Amino acid sequence: MTNPFVYGEVVPDASFVDREAELDRLVQDLAAGQKIFLISPRRYGKSSLVARALDRARRGGALAVEITVSSYSSYVAFLEGYARELLSLETRLDRARSWFGDLLGTLRPQIRLEPDDSGRGAIAVSFPTVRTDRDVSRLAQEVFALPGRIADARRRRLAVALDEFQAIGSFNGGSVEHALRAAVQHQRQVGYVFSGSEPTLMERMLGRSRPFYKAGPVMRLQKIPEDRFAAFIDARFRATKLRPGPNLGAAIVELAGNLPYDVQRLAHELWDDARAAGMKSVGLEDLHATLRRLLGEHDAMFEAGWQRLTLAQRATLRAAVLEDGRELLSADARARHRLGGASTVQASLSALIREDLLAREGTRYVVVDSLLREWVARHTF
Ligand SMILES: Nc1ncnc2c1ncn2[C@@H]1O[C@H](COP(=O)(O)OP(=O)(O)OP(=O)(O)O)[C@@H](O)[C@H]1O
Ligand SMILES: [Mg+2]
Repeated sequence: MTNPFVYGEVVPDASFVDREAELDRLVQDLAAGQKIFLISPRRYGKSSLVARALDRARRGGALAVEITVSSYSSYVAFLEGYARELLSLETRLDRARSWFGDLLGTLRPQIRLEPDDSGRGAIAVSFPTVRTDRDVSRLAQEVFALPGRIADARRRRLAVALDEFQAIGSFNGGSVEHALRAAVQHQRQVGYVFSGSEPTLMERMLGRSRPFYKAGPVMRLQKIPEDRFAAFIDARFRATKLRPGPNLGAAIVELAGNLPYDVQRLAHELWDDARAAGMKSVGLEDLHATLRRLLGEHDAMFEAGWQRLTLAQRATLRAAVLEDGRELLSADARARHRLGGASTVQASLSALIREDLLAREGTRYVVVDSLLREWVARHTF
């Protein structure tokens, strides 16, 4: 029997919880040709939500492509990758060659079939004639116009997902945003979702003076309601013949800080341990044994991370754990944890947020990784 809990990848249907309203809205907006911004901190489930929305769009007869902006090492590599994904909408190479040649003829794309795992070969695109910055801008203009042309040529709706979109800022500064915004606003038959996991960068991109200001609706993904998640966990344990003890699901959600990734990780690991031990039921004791095992496995990594922090940052991180992230700047908390002046604490908090160790949730500072939180509570002084 396979583990019903999945983490570290886009979640399959059977492990997907909640998000009905978000999904409906995303699917409708994409079909209406909207340009949607989807923003949340890391590991909340953006990529999983987008993958599901694109699946639905495909089932509804649309074409769909998805591309992760942050995985490219240069602007040209990104443009080539984007062109390739769009080209792959046509699975027959001869047809792809001919209509792509028509669309991008003057840029003289080279289209080849490269060996891949599937044995059928994957289409690769490159633009060997593109050399100067001006060539690159022209290429960008043409590639960004492609979705609209494809939708027209194929007479189909098209949905385009650009994931980790905040990374676009590292290519060529502001000119990419301008070029892309200028292209997409004319493509009424193409829906776009720009998703990003660095909320501050993404929010800044939507600012008044930036090209994407008021370009379309903004969705800020929240956590999954705790009770839904807890009920799902209990149900999946039951369905795989492991009887959950009272409040097991709720305890997992709480221990994981209700971060979707951490919830699934803890449930997955607990399920593995229970299966390996041949158990019929699982309780809170077992959960804590699994937690201890995970802390042991992560010890060297957390220790190395801890060593890289300054003393002031270590003290602030510890205080955030012990105070549950509340009132860290108060005189009281600063005295209790010997944190020094408020400005020192503020600087440490900012550094810890930049390092993705802490995140702000309302007025609280929460430790992003719930395992790290438990490690700090138990292994530091
Ligand atoms: N709707 C959901 N139901 C259940 N678990 C989920 C859901 N969404 C996400 N998860 C859990 O969170 C993990 C991370 O999800 P995903 O990769 O979609 O998030 P993300 O926001 O794109 O993360 P990143 O910022 O790392 O790109 C998944 O592997 C899964 O374990
Ligand atoms: Mg993602």
